[in-house]
Amino acid sequence: MPSAAKSIQSQDKRTLRPAVLDDVRSIYQILKHYSDRGLLLPRPESDIYQSIREFVVVENSDRIVACCALQIFTRQLGEVRSLAVMPEYAGAGIGTEIVERIEQEANTIGLTRLMALTYEVKFFSRMGYKVVEMNVLPEKVWGACINCHKFRNCDEIAVLKLLSED
Ligand SMILES: CC(C)(COP(=O)(O)OP(=O)(O)OC[C@H]1O[C@@H](n2cnc3c(N)ncnc32)[C@H](O)[C@@H]1OP(=O)(O)O)[C@@H](O)C(=O)NCCC(=O)NCCS
Repeated sequence: MPSAAKSIQSQDKRTLRPAVLDDVRSIYQILKHYSDRGLLLPRPESDIYQSIREFVVVENSDRIVACCALQIFTRQLGEVRSLAVMPEYAGAGIGTEIVERIEQEANTIGLTRLMALTYEVKFFSRMGYKVVEMNVLPEKVWGACINCHKFRNCDEIAVLKLLSED
């Protein structure tokens, strides 16, 4: 486990909370760290401002170290989107914690299915998501994906979790 991950476990000073506008720069930088490496899709700051109410963040000693958004597509389907944990904090359970919070929010508002497009299949499998064909998710594919530069050659893997019966 990375040393920072060990120390945050022992200090346990982290807070999971809804994002505020002052977090936008930090969210942008965390996402950029991974989008520069081709692991996440890039999101401009303007997009993050517009979507700020979808985000939760993890703050550790006044620093934003992780973020995740819940995007709603239809009455049933939402997406776990823009999930990222700073690499030095990986492996300490923050990713799991933040996805569990997104799932709670999804349940609270009445979504029945949550999806993600990811390269981190093992992480999502451990959380109860199943790999599905992209065409099982037409709402996503024909809504958001059609505007993505990877649309014709997307190599991300679609995963889906049933939260409750439709
Ligand atoms: C995927 C990602 C969010 C995981 O975040 P994380 O905080 O490392 O996740 P967790 O610590 O909860 O779990 C990671 C692993 O550490 C292990 N772990 C969790 N808590 C642990 C602990 N206290 N001690 C030791 N290991 C632990 C988990 O078992 C898990 O193992 P896995 O590889 O089998 O899934 C993170 O690696 C990331 O930001 N990746 C880049 C962006 C990305 O791909 N996002 C997904 C797009 S949808």
